[in-house]
Amino acid sequence: MPAIVLVGAQWGDEGKGKATDLLGSRLDYVVKFNGGNNAGHTVVIDGEKYALHLLPSGILTPGCIPVIGNGVVVDLGVLFEEIDALEARGIDTSTLVVSANAHLIAPYNRVLDKVTERFLGSRKLGTTGRGIGPTYADKMSRIGIRVQDLYDESILRQKVEAALDVKNQMLLKVYNRRAVEVDEVMAEFLRYADRLRPMVADTSLVLAKALDEGKNVLFEAGQATLLDVDHGTYPFVTSSNAISAGACTGAGVPPTRIDRVTAILKAFTTRVGEGPFPTELHDEVGDRLREIGREFGTTTGRPRRIGWLDTVIGRYAARINGVTDFVITKLDNLDTFDEIPVCVAYDVDGVRHDEMPMTQTDFHHAKPIYEVLPGWKSDISGCRSYDELPANCRAYVEFVEGQVGARVSVIGVGPGRDEVIERHSLLGHD
Ligand code: GDP
Ligand code: IMO
Ligand code: MG
Repeated sequence: MPAIVLVGAQWGDEGKGKATDLLGSRLDYVVKFNGGNNAGHTVVIDGEKYALHLLPSGILTPGCIPVIGNGVVVDLGVLFEEIDALEARGIDTSTLVVSANAHLIAPYNRVLDKVTERFLGSRKLGTTGRGIGPTYADKMSRIGIRVQDLYDESILRQKVEAALDVKNQMLLKVYNRRAVEVDEVMAEFLRYADRLRPMVADTSLVLAKALDEGKNVLFEAGQATLLDVDHGTYPFVTSSNAISAGACTGAGVPPTRIDRVTAILKAFTTRVGEGPFPTELHDEVGDRLREIGREFGTTTGRPRRIGWLDTVIGRYAARINGVTDFVITKLDNLDTFDEIPVCVAYDVDGVRHDEMPMTQTDFHHAKPIYEVLPGWKSDISGCRSYDELPANCRAYVEFVEGQVGARVSVIGVGPGRDEVIERHSLLGHD
């Protein structure tokens, strides 16, 4: 009856959505605790593709209650668009629960996200432009608007007016944009208030009760370890805590209740947006891997930057998240390579680093030190047990295990729900 946190080990898009879906029927609750519609999870069920942004991936499993925690930033328009699209495909979304304390993405923050990026020019972060950063900044500045504010209209208006005092100065005077009217913001927020009302709850209390009753609860991170605002490659990060500890603040669940931490590690590395990336490939091998892996963003459609697996990052993810189990995804994407380089350490200005360098400057200078493993040169997509994998493939998995220092419990061999090999239970039963 565990509480499990599921995180991305790299820079996102590791296949978190699929891992959640794999646990699906064994879960009673799936909780999104950070981020917003900057996330993009693709899940393939019986050949049907679902792209989720704001809703927890558990919504695709009948009987599993999806929860949007207080740490999430919610764009109401996107939320209901996504709900309507799923309902139209026969997915029941009626059990969704949304925290009264979650912050709302206001229209001015979507505009500010885009114009600040434009102003940064070559120093831009490459954000998803969904208003994520400005909304979290407002939360910390204590001028944010929360879900519960929708149900006290006069307070809502006061809060929107207070926020607009600042925002309109910035839009007009700094960015030379038009001011946003209070009525415009009120109209966008209130449009969805009645529809949202039955879903709103004290989600921390809901989850405490569920855990007391021995339910299985999965806390599903958006983004990933190296995009975490405190422990990632700052400033090239998102604006929330995407590591396992973020589940505690972002869902209102204490650390003493978390039993297991699963990290999703893609068999190679990708990154969307700007920032340092030691194993990045700028050659035709990278292009080949992008094509094989179809590495184009679920949210923005941008081609993802590609590199070999970096186990310095894997080791860091294991430590900072307290990983009990790794899931290696997309191992099948390496089927055709003769040799597979794996980064095991960095050379930073002539000094070997086995751990993540302490400073941004050193990380920018990090050159990968590779160990080259032989490929297995066969199609593993049909394998369903560990023993069926070719010897070189098993050697690769065990090499990674040794490098990151935690067990690899699940291996993804294809995008479909059943295209996995389970060596150990992520629920910790073996
Ligand atoms: P997320 O953001 O971590 O949920 O990951 P994305 O959905 O953005 O990207 C992962 C992509 O990899 C999706 O298109 C998945 O369908 C796909 N995928 C996940 N696991 C596997 C796997 O083991 N093999 C293959 N070939 N594709 C996978
Ligand atoms: P999932 O959950 C990959 C990246 C953006 C940008 C930086 C900041 O699908 O793994 P933001 O809009 O969050 O302020 O952008 O973070 N980014 C992601 N990259 N996967 C994601 O989510 C991401 N969410 C944000 O590309 O570099
Ligand atoms: Mg994604």
